[in-house]
Amino acid sequence: MHRMEIGETRRVRGVTVPSIMYGTAWKEERTQALTSEAIACGFRAIDTANQRRHYVEAGVGAAIRAAIASGIVTRDELFLQTKFTYQRGQDHRLPYDPDADLATQVRQSIDSSLEHLGVTRIDSYILHSPSRAYGLGEADWQTWRAMEDGVRAGLLGLLGVSNISFEQLATLIDGVNIAPAFVQNRCFARNRWDADVRALCQGHDIVYQGFSLLTANRQALSSPRVSAIARRHGKTVAQVVFRFAVELEMLPLTGTTDSLHMREDLDIFDFALSDQDHEVMLEIGVA
Ligand SMILES: NC(=O)c1ccc[n+]([C@@H]2O[C@H](COP(=O)([O-])OP(=O)(O)OC[C@H]3O[C@@H](n4cnc5c(N)ncnc54)[C@H](OP(=O)(O)O)[C@@H]3O)[C@@H](O)[C@H]2O)c1
Repeated sequence: MHRMEIGETRRVRGVTVPSIMYGTAWKEERTQALTSEAIACGFRAIDTANQRRHYVEAGVGAAIRAAIASGIVTRDELFLQTKFTYQRGQDHRLPYDPDADLATQVRQSIDSSLEHLGVTRIDSYILHSPSRAYGLGEADWQTWRAMEDGVRAGLLGLLGVSNISFEQLATLIDGVNIAPAFVQNRCFARNRWDADVRALCQGHDIVYQGFSLLTANRQALSSPRVSAIARRHGKTVAQVVFRFAVELEMLPLTGTTDSLHMREDLDIFDFALSDQDHEVMLEIGVA
């Protein structure tokens, strides 16, 4: 089986990116403390969104400022990712003027993220989800062009898109000037861990970021076949899942609130799954 070389970082379009990312959703008033703890544990990639409904981007920024000020990390050692979210995905706490055109909304959201995070440049900027369930709309093209403008202005590094289907991704790839470097999707074991979208990504030099790897697959992961793999490697089931994801060339996200789990999730670079382990992991959950 072909295996990419696996280390704690990887290269994406010439940029060094950590191989696992800390996610900051749903942490509310604990956001700053948990992000600080994640950085102290060793996470160097952080995912957030300028979407107050599910994230406290300013809390992430406070943790980043503190970590840099205390000398734990430099700005260059961190890989920071945030998102643009359409109004329908937000509550009343909007980071832009809802009456402005989309290009202006994107620019206002970027400026607000830079301020929240206390940085001059965002390493990866994600369109949180397309504007429609099927296909792409004019809103998506306008938004992507505004994101491309953000890259040209030096405010954004790599671009990406989240919650996207195979067909939508194929359409996007065909129609843009700056191609997505990342896709961020909820990843289900039942469709062989989003196999179709992952294959499309691999064919276009796009890194697939998987979220809900544990929470979306509880039943599949309760299989004794998975515990047997974990036992054989002396690792937890969560570590097997994140290692498996990395071996599939994914970039996994973890949003754990537990410092032991943080350390465990980072401790996946000293073992390798066998071809047989892969077969089991690919088959579990498939009806
Ligand atoms: N683009 C989008 O639309 C979108 C949607 C959802 C999420 N995300 C991103 O993905 C991140 C991760 O979200 P997620 O849905 O994958 O779930 P998550 O928030 O990481 O939740 C993981 C759950 O599994 C538990 N767990 C047990 N052992 C664990 C271990 N060793 N490592 C990690 N978790 C363990 C956690 O409990 P403990 O806290 O006790 O460890 C937690 O309840 C979010 O914070 C966000 O940044 C993006």
